[in-house]
Amino acid sequence: MLEQVGGLNLTGLQETAWIEVIRKMEEVYSDLIRYEVDLESKNDALEQAHRFIGSVLSSMSDVLLVCDGKCQIQQVNQALLDLTGQAEADLLGEPLTTLLPFAGQSLVESLLGLSGAQPVQDREVRFLSKSGEATEPVALNASLRRDALGQPAGYVLIGRPVGELRRAYEALELAHADLKAAQQQLVQSEKLASLGRLVAGVAHELNNPVSFVLGNVHSLARYLDRLTSYVDAVHEGSSARAREKLRAELSIDAVLADLGPLIDGTREGAGRVAEIVRNLKRLSFTNPGGAEIFNLADVVRTAAEWAARGRKKQAVLSFDLPASLNVRGNAGAIHQVLVNLVENALDAMEDVNPAMLWLSARAEGASAVVGVRDNGPGIADGSLLKVFDPFFTTKPPGRGTGLGLWISWNIVKDHGGAIEAGNHPEGGAVVLFTLPLVADGKGKRSTASGPVPETP
Ligand SMILES: Nc1ncnc2c1ncn2[C@@H]1O[C@H](COP(=O)(O)OP(=O)(O)OP(=O)(O)O)[C@@H](O)[C@H]1O
Ligand SMILES: [Mg+2]
Repeated sequence: MLEQVGGLNLTGLQETAWIEVIRKMEEVYSDLIRYEVDLESKNDALEQAHRFIGSVLSSMSDVLLVCDGKCQIQQVNQALLDLTGQAEADLLGEPLTTLLPFAGQSLVESLLGLSGAQPVQDREVRFLSKSGEATEPVALNASLRRDALGQPAGYVLIGRPVGELRRAYEALELAHADLKAAQQQLVQSEKLASLGRLVAGVAHELNNPVSFVLGNVHSLARYLDRLTSYVDAVHEGSSARAREKLRAELSIDAVLADLGPLIDGTREGAGRVAEIVRNLKRLSFTNPGGAEIFNLADVVRTAAEWAARGRKKQAVLSFDLPASLNVRGNAGAIHQVLVNLVENALDAMEDVNPAMLWLSARAEGASAVVGVRDNGPGIADGSLLKVFDPFFTTKPPGRGTGLGLWISWNIVKDHGGAIEAGNHPEGGAVVLFTLPLVADGKGKRSTASGPVPETP
């Protein structure tokens, strides 16, 4: 068959060949377009990755330096340029020693592990700044960089300016010191507050015997007037009748009969005052470290009575104490522990009637165990693990600082004992603490009354 194409005469065979060529050309062209699109999208991704890496490098606060296997600088980040004041163009391709002249070639070699040294970790170095001076120190870490085939291709060095770390550390130290000072102040004011409560209790305690003594002295003064009048009459040589009359008028017999009990009562009141003062002297708050041997049973009783008397809320106190239970330490501090525990119990029993407080002390092995139990609502399950934490309180502001149990825990711990809080199966809270018992001379623990042994 013969056809005419564009003025050409093509045989059927030629025509088929031409169609095939055109088809191939179209295929190649569409492949080209596809490759181009592909290439453009890969280029885009590459640029994005490049921008991403660039932004990461420039926003890094640590300095970054990449060099090849011959220690020639390949890349640096903005932090390094900022630190050294150098321009990137002046550094790329330069040997690493240009930037680290102070370290010397040997250090650079060891930095990079070239001389078989250990990998570089937190090595303090200084770079050369543009002005020719050393920069502030940098803690440098170096690691090997590998190429796509896993072959060593160079090194990556990352450094953190130590000055910044030091400044941060100093600021942290300062903040810590401030916090400690504030905490100390709070502890001090809590101690002062409990001292204040103690003084209120003591004042209440002293009031009774002092007014008793004052009343007696007042009566004694009146009796003195009468007796003086009577003795004067006797000395003036008045008649027996007149003396009898005066004796009846002045009730001299009743006065004489009253004198003995009045003097006894006054002596008792003064004795009570002396005892309170003696107890107070033992509360050597000014000498918290002062250790002495004391009868824990006495301290439990006195502390509980005083703490309870200074309060509006009244509770029935019941004691289960041995005559003597000798421990070594600071009686004042242990007194404070008991005051804290009793105050907590009284706080908890505010709405409970009758409020009951059980105080016990006993010897158990080598320890004295003191228990303070109340019939309040007990400690909530969620609070059990936190009650000894400083500043943990469930009381409204102004009613509790949350330091009472923390201070008590510290005091007991300083005495070589332990303290724990829990709830009683029959309700109410129980706090138990132990203190090491003082052994008597024969190696036994002392619980019976008697002379206090000299040394444990
Ligand atoms: N006997 C108790 N019954 C119930 N809860 C108690 C008892 N004792 C302590 N707690 C709980 O433990 C918390 C911590 O007691 P802590 O003595 O340390 O502080 P506070 O009494 O709240 O304040 P502060 O003693 O400093 O005045 C209390 O707020 C209370 O919730
Ligand atoms: Mg308390």
